[in-house]
Amino acid sequence: MITTIVLFSIVGFVALASIAIPDPCATIGGQKWVSPQDLRACYTSFAVDPSIKENIVDVINKTLAFHTSVNYEIAAPEPFTEFVHEDLLKDLARISSQSYPSDYDLHLDVSRTLKRLNDGHCVWINSCYVPLFLNFLPIPLVLLTDSDGTQSVHIAPEAFAVTSAEFLDEIDVWQEALPPAIPLQTLDGAQVLSIEGQNPSVAVDANALITGSFQPLGTRQNSFFSSYQFGANGWTYIMGDFAQQSLPLNDSVTLVVQRVNESTTDTIELPYRARINPATVSFTDSASYRANNCLPILGTNGVDLNETIVSAAPLSETVMKFQQQPPILKTFTKERVNVMLNTIPLSDVALPPSLVPNVPVVSGGFGSGQFYMLSDNKTGVFALGSFGGDTIDAMMSGMLQGLINLKSLGATQLIVDVSNNGGGFICAAEFLHRIIIGPKNTTVPQAGLDTETRDGPLARLIVQQIIQNDVDPSQALLYNPLNWNNASNVAFAADNDWLLPLLGQECQPNGFTTMPPDEGLFPASNVVIVSNGRCASSCSLFSITMAKEEGVKTVVLGGRSDVQQAYCGTVGGQSTVFSEIDTEVKTAKLKNNSLAPPDMMVNGVQGITWRLGFGIQDPTQPEEWQPHPATLNLLLTPDLVNNPVAIWTNITEQLLTGRS
Ligand SMILES: *[C@@H]1O[C@H](CO)[C@@H](O)[C@H](O)[C@H]1NC(C)=O
Ligand SMILES: *[C@@H]1O[C@H](CO)[C@@H](O)[C@H](O)[C@H]1NC(C)=O
Ligand SMILES: *[C@@H]1O[C@H](CO)[C@@H](O)[C@H](O)[C@H]1NC(C)=O
Ligand SMILES: *[C@@H]1O[C@H](CO)[C@@H](O)[C@H](O)[C@H]1NC(C)=O
Ligand SMILES: *[C@@H]1O[C@H](CO)[C@@H](O)[C@H](O)[C@H]1NC(C)=O
Ligand SMILES: *[C@@H]1O[C@H](CO)[C@@H](O)[C@H](O)[C@H]1NC(C)=O
Ligand SMILES: *[C@@H]1O[C@H](CO)[C@@H](O)[C@H](O)[C@H]1NC(C)=O
Ligand SMILES: *[C@@H]1O[C@H](CO)[C@@H](O)[C@H](O)[C@H]1NC(C)=O
Ligand SMILES: *[C@@H]1O[C@H](CO)[C@@H](O)[C@H](O)[C@H]1NC(C)=O
Repeated sequence: MITTIVLFSIVGFVALASIAIPDPCATIGGQKWVSPQDLRACYTSFAVDPSIKENIVDVINKTLAFHTSVNYEIAAPEPFTEFVHEDLLKDLARISSQSYPSDYDLHLDVSRTLKRLNDGHCVWINSCYVPLFLNFLPIPLVLLTDSDGTQSVHIAPEAFAVTSAEFLDEIDVWQEALPPAIPLQTLDGAQVLSIEGQNPSVAVDANALITGSFQPLGTRQNSFFSSYQFGANGWTYIMGDFAQQSLPLNDSVTLVVQRVNESTTDTIELPYRARINPATVSFTDSASYRANNCLPILGTNGVDLNETIVSAAPLSETVMKFQQQPPILKTFTKERVNVMLNTIPLSDVALPPSLVPNVPVVSGGFGSGQFYMLSDNKTGVFALGSFGGDTIDAMMSGMLQGLINLKSLGATQLIVDVSNNGGGFICAAEFLHRIIIGPKNTTVPQAGLDTETRDGPLARLIVQQIIQNDVDPSQALLYNPLNWNNASNVAFAADNDWLLPLLGQECQPNGFTTMPPDEGLFPASNVVIVSNGRCASSCSLFSITMAKEEGVKTVVLGGRSDVQQAYCGTVGGQSTVFSEIDTEVKTAKLKNNSLAPPDMMVNGVQGITWRLGFGIQDPTQPEEWQPHPATLNLLLTPDLVNNPVAIWTNITEQLLTGRS
């Protein structure tokens, strides 16, 4: 395929030249697996379009005026100063004046700039690149601890079982890249002595600087490694940032490894291979790639709810692809969510059968929740990979039924495994806390955190339009006072100019679609919450209130023993995205205001924290900026790693049945 049009970006203008060169995007068009080099050649073939660049910067800049964490992210208080100090407005000014060799280079800078906030709610995603293809290696890594406490990086013992099943059609390419004496499966469990000639910890820390999403250092280090999650499609395997990239950052990797039971070391080089993301709209060349994947689609921008019936207003398809919860209903919903965005979509790689829990499943399971009884017949387990991905009714009734079933089978203690739970419905998180603990002053009328939203000038104008000009008769807007209660949990009046005070909760009684029982289901001292630290948003709200108010113990799986592991991160309070803010602005007839973000010209998403939860121990400061140390950092061994039942059994011994 030949194209005759090439764009040259020359200071100040774009010139067209007629030179016949191959179309770099035609090389990857229609392919399932491509090389990262070819993918980058396509991406970097597009010059920056100045009007699109200005549009992206403008949308992000004006949407950030609704984000609640800005001041803290510029000047984080101790002990967080080391991790977050990003002045985004300054960054955006820099990006505006900087020139870039290609649109892809601009994207990399914008994306990484936002990621430096280490806040999974405040992320920039451009579907033109993220992720058109996912860039894979067949050797996910894990961090293991010896009996003497020494920690080292290994190729996951289950690597070949995972990747030979998932990459059936590509595994030979990797096998052929290795010397015949080193079959791929013999790398399982091998110790990794170096990555690109350096101690593996160098690569772990380099990734921690760019992976974003979580403020705790330990959590970002651990994102390099593989992990598991219970999701809407059952048990999935998360490859980790080393073996899976959302952009074609690396072409190959050279490792020195020592295989299991070998006394000598081997140097191996493996190529990364990029596989098309199932959500990518197929294309054949540059023109169809850009037309099918880069332009705004239904829901990229907001709507005026006075012109669109609320129940038909689309939720952004693009947003749903990146929320770390399985897709929810495709139309406007008033059920509030607190959920992370990530440039890597939810995993569809299967956890190998040998690691999938083989203990009895107890009924009550729903979307992303499953119940198990361990072989002691005393320890119930609730695996909950998301607070979203099903109707809120199905989640609440399933949670209650499953926990009651566990108790009726004799469970007296409970493990809640929220590994990789990126959040979801706020009221489902509060409901779970309420039914485990029972009614008391920490769960009724509110089992969550007090919150505050930001009172920027445009937000105030939206409230004025609602209370003075009745622009929101269906009570659909976030800024409608009728949707919220004050900090004493009394509803605001229709004319309340409510933006400044603290907010209480809106889950009880009407947001609980299942009636909670009169007594708690498990004593707090018999409950343990387990995760790999990647428990965010609504999962943080649940874990923090359970740990800090009820004294429930928490466990973090893995991590360096000399780094404090946090049992959750990215707390937020309620999250939203540009398109929802745009709906508020349009419905309030304020789109012409100079503070209003313009419609987005690309298929992008900018996420924000719309209201921020205040602390339990220090109620004057956001909970986001208070510590969340785990009770136990369970160091991983070859027997434990990515093996949920082995992990739950060990925790039962250490923190429940076996405790002194
Ligand atoms: C961002 O918005 C502020 C006004 O809120 C404006 O002063 C600033 O110039 C904008 N920055 C960029 C890069 O557009
Ligand atoms: C990937 O590329 C980056 C930037 O070139 C480099 O710093 C990093 O070490 C590479 N990682 C691997 C695993 O090769
Ligand atoms: C390594 O050696 C042990 C002990 O001889 C054996 O049980 C195990 O199967 C060996 N593992 C591999 C991968 O060869
Ligand atoms: C749109 O606004 C008009 C005028 O305020 C009002 O009569 C009408 O009910 C509104 N329609 C919807 C769907 O909100
Ligand atoms: C647990 O219950 C099952 C099914 O009732 C029974 O077969 C098993 O022996 C019990 N295990 C223990 C440790 O009591
Ligand atoms: C809740 O009740 C406990 C005693 O049961 C008391 O110590 C605590 O101060 C109360 N908290 C609130 C917020 O009322
Ligand atoms: C909430 O509103 C009620 C009724 O107006 C009022 O009595 C109460 O003081 C308010 N609470 C707070 C914390 O403002
Ligand atoms: C914005 O202003 C233009 C021109 O002044 C006008 O045609 C348009 O209707 C206005 N739009 C809104 C949403 O007020
Ligand atoms: C739990 O795992 C740790 C390794 O993190 C190990 O040292 C310990 O012996 C295990 N305990 C039990 C009871 O299995």
